[in-house]
Amino acid sequence: MRVSIASDHAGYDMRQQVVKHLIDKGFEVIDGGAVSATERFNYVDAGNKVAEDVLSGKADRGIAICGTGIGISMTCNKHKGIRCALCNNEYMARMCRQHNDANVLSFGARVVGPEIAFAMVDCFFEEEFAGGRHAERLATMAATEDINFK
Ligand code: RB5
Repeated sequence: MRVSIASDHAGYDMRQQVVKHLIDKGFEVIDGGAVSATERFNYVDAGNKVAEDVLSGKADRGIAICGTGIGISMTCNKHKGIRCALCNNEYMARMCRQHNDANVLSFGARVVGPEIAFAMVDCFFEEEFAGGRHAERLATMAATEDINFK
């Protein structure tokens, strides 16, 4: 599985830890975004990178990190076909796969610590989409994109 991960400066330190976690687990990682925790990097550019990597097929899934996870998840969700879930705990990370078939996981480096982040990342890759009634809802979501994304 290929994972594109990117962050702004606020998510830089967390991203380093998550990249190591992913590599240790055998994932192929495409790492992008801020080059340090001190040099400012716009979370929009980081979110766009993750979304584009997933939509182009360069990556199977994405992880997007900023200070709160809010700005970068908003950005990812501006891309048609991206279902980015901003999660704060393991349960949300589990459900975003089972019920929402999320293809990008987002979280805030100033909101959760590394242990919760690793647990969410693990859920995000372990859980399968449940399909059924959830697939019907996602079809409605895709139809909503078709109407509203110009
Ligand atoms: C950067 O200071 C901060 O605004 C950003 O990381 C994020 O939290 C925005 O949503």
